[in-house]
Amino acid sequence: MAGVTPPQRERFGSKFGVIAAAAGSAVGLGNIWKFPYEVGNNGGGAFLVLYLGFVLLIGIPVMISELAIGRNGQKNAIGSFRAISPKRPWFLVGIIGVAAAFMIFAFYGSVAGWTLEYIFQSAKNGFEGKTPDQLGSMFDNFVENPMRPLMWQTIFIVLTASVVMAGVKKGIEKYTKILMPVLFLIILVLIVRSVTLPGAGAGLEFLFKPDFSKINASVILSALGQAFFSLSLGMGTIITYGSYIRKNDNLAVTAIQVSTADTVIAIMAGIAIFPAVFAFGINPSQGEGLVFVTIPNIFQQMPGGYVFSLLFFILLAVAALTSTISLLEVIVAYFSEEYKISRKKATIYSSIVILFIGTLCTLSKGGPLTDFTIFGKNIWGFLEFVSADILLPLGGLCIVIFVGFFMGRKRVREELTNAGSIKGRLIPVAMFLVRYIAPIGIALVFLNAIGLLKFG
Ligand code: PHE
Repeated sequence: MAGVTPPQRERFGSKFGVIAAAAGSAVGLGNIWKFPYEVGNNGGGAFLVLYLGFVLLIGIPVMISELAIGRNGQKNAIGSFRAISPKRPWFLVGIIGVAAAFMIFAFYGSVAGWTLEYIFQSAKNGFEGKTPDQLGSMFDNFVENPMRPLMWQTIFIVLTASVVMAGVKKGIEKYTKILMPVLFLIILVLIVRSVTLPGAGAGLEFLFKPDFSKINASVILSALGQAFFSLSLGMGTIITYGSYIRKNDNLAVTAIQVSTADTVIAIMAGIAIFPAVFAFGINPSQGEGLVFVTIPNIFQQMPGGYVFSLLFFILLAVAALTSTISLLEVIVAYFSEEYKISRKKATIYSSIVILFIGTLCTLSKGGPLTDFTIFGKNIWGFLEFVSADILLPLGGLCIVIFVGFFMGRKRVREELTNAGSIKGRLIPVAMFLVRYIAPIGIALVFLNAIGLLKFG
């Protein structure tokens, strides 16, 4: 190093700020939109059991590992690998992560745009007096005529870009700190209404009573992919945020708190959705529209539905925003640091690329690109599958192997104990999960998915 002192990195300003930002990344459409429809598509309770197991045994160790890489490397997702292991090709893991960020933002931005349409519809009382069937066709009509979805998607990408341009502390930390707790409260209100609907019991049974005969290789892969997606793991988001965490914050505790918050919100979303799905006779495996059809139905059955509906979709949009911010931050931190371009330029260029891929996604949902398929999936389905179910777990596999065996015991210890100031009796347990359980677990799921192994 030729004596250049790197500029002081931005830092999260408080412990709660760190957790709010990381939880803000984790909690999003993955919990409230994707989790319920994955549960619905994959047979209910058995999926939930797998999911919880994966969060605990694989997700948490991967999150600890990412935080350690980021804080030790003090750089973006690619630069941190290079800083720690300059002579080996581990930075490729970061490159896969940046690619995954583009892919995820593409379809995620589309759904995020839907939330804006639903804010608009709530505001003009557009769900009023509609039957479950009518609410279903309202959603289909909206999605299949791509001009409006494209407009909202563009607005959403611009919103994200403007926060990311403002930087970590001013932009990201400030908003998530207030808005996450409010979201939690409103889901509680939804739960109360949903579980008291006549016929709600069948939904709770669907969610909580596992039928293990529903488990097959693809259900297992989806549950693993969902755990990674929901926790924002395997692609460098948490590495990037880890690089902004102060030296005295406890990484393992942060990982456990963030994972717990994320999991609790996903399960709460499930408890809010499924009783209503069964009470209204909605098909639980209808896919991406599930939440957008079910939630307005619940609000129809509630005093004050107008206000709650408006509030809910605003908060859903905000939850989505704190996640798209973290996706874009991975990309922008990389391009601005490694290519020495300004944050502003990096944000604008990458947003344009995201908008382009995102448009293709949106046009593949009922629009002109519907029949264009790659490996039997439309563009959207392909990007969603490849990013969430393949690239994230693959990234996670490399990350735990890196931290477990290649980063160097001294560095890892230093990060997990804050240079010796934390006792950390659980650290050997964490390391055992990182070195053995998580990598073997992910590998088994992959082998099972490609049919080289058979269990379940
Ligand atoms: N975890 C986010 C959600 O659940 C999505 C996300 C995935 C964000 C990967 C960043 C990285 O909505």
